Amino acid sequence: MRITMIGGGYVGLVSAACFAEFGVEVAVVEADPGKLAELRAGRMPIYEPGLEALVAANVASGRLSFTADLPAALAETGAVFIAVGTPSRRGDGHADLSYVFAAAEQVARALTHPAVIVTKSTVPVGTGRRIAQLLAEVRPDLACAVASNPEFLREGSAIADFMRPDRVVIGVEDEAAREVLRQIYRPLYLIETPIVFTNLETAELTKYAANAFLAMKVAFINEMADLAEKTGADVHDVARGIGLDGRIGRKFLHPGPGFGGSCFPKDTLALMRIAQDAGAPSRLIESVVAVNDARKAGMAARIIAACGGSVRGKTIAVLGLTFKPETDDMRDSPALPIVSRLIGDGARVAAYDPQGMEQARALLPEQVEYCQSALKAAEGADALVVITEWNEFRALATARLAETMRGRVIVDLRNIFDPAAMRGAGFAYHGIGRRSG
Ligand code: UDX
Repeated sequence: MRITMIGGGYVGLVSAACFAEFGVEVAVVEADPGKLAELRAGRMPIYEPGLEALVAANVASGRLSFTADLPAALAETGAVFIAVGTPSRRGDGHADLSYVFAAAEQVARALTHPAVIVTKSTVPVGTGRRIAQLLAEVRPDLACAVASNPEFLREGSAIADFMRPDRVVIGVEDEAAREVLRQIYRPLYLIETPIVFTNLETAELTKYAANAFLAMKVAFINEMADLAEKTGADVHDVARGIGLDGRIGRKFLHPGPGFGGSCFPKDTLALMRIAQDAGAPSRLIESVVAVNDARKAGMAARIIAACGGSVRGKTIAVLGLTFKPETDDMRDSPALPIVSRLIGDGARVAAYDPQGMEQARALLPEQVEYCQSALKAAEGADALVVITEWNEFRALATARLAETMRGRVIVDLRNIFDPAAMRGAGFAYHGIGRRSG
């Protein structure tokens, strides 16, 4: 079986490499010449553990290739996956579908035989149906079926998520197209992965509902953390206490500075708009969006309060800039409003992130100083702030930190340190949702 992947971004690249690993022949179409050249040279445009090796192995086996030549990539293809970006449209929060429709139209014009057109990008409910209409208009001579196959992979563990997913969701209404997708996902059938076959609209809504529900869990535990701080409770015990209830589940109950990344902020906003437009507004999702925005914007105030009310002239070491560990992605990272506010208030910021500093440079104020290690960032700092929970920060020796820093304030926005140990080492430790001191 040959398939085509339109778009060599996060979802497209990971999916293509993993499909190739399943034994399918995959041609990735990448329109950006710079990105294409990098991919052909074996260099990944993103940092994702294991991706470079997986791509290299499948390119070597001849199952994975990168091209700008759409007609060639469509030759003998059985399915065309559209994995182009769907950024938030400026101003209104709706997903911008111009890339998706442009890709669908180009594919329709270039196809020489019928194929299944599959959306992998997260697209608003109704998009698959609109693509079907477009195909019927542009190529009434070809009977192309449309399917929706949303991707649930997480950055940082994308390959494992793809190869061993909890489930696969496929919206498809045509019997032959369903068979094509069943063939492509055959290796997952063999490991008994549940596959939810449904209609187009349901698959599209399922993707938004999944992300919105997880985002809601995070927003919920963050509110409980605030409440725990006010009442003397410990939010980790609350999370464990509720999470052990199988109906709730333990995952996604870790408090922090608010969710970021390429999906949760964009998808909650888009779902909010979809629901409003459909005449069934979701007050819950609207609250999640508002609560999370306010949380990220308010995080700097916590740091300033921990520093005695002002950071003017103080040096703040910032550990972690990316929206989560094991990625170089800075999109909607809580670090953006936090660092900007600290600089705006007159602090000197010395930052370190194991992967994200290059991306960060373009987005953060130019005054930020980038350091080669966590300890270098901590040198002479009045306060140290953990924004992203990279594993290497957990292993920092408190004695070394105490020696290196000038001040004693630690604001741990991910609760990676043990509060008692930190207090024992003489730090004024501030975590999230548990006793400070
Ligand atoms: C998410 C979904 O998990 C994935 O299924 C979807 O395909 C894309 O969006 P990702 O954005 O890579 O994946 O990251 P994820 O691990 O889900 O974290 C999202 C955000 O929530 C991060 O900012 C993270 O720090 C935050 N988070 C997550 C918490 O603050 N607490 C938690 O307990 C979990």
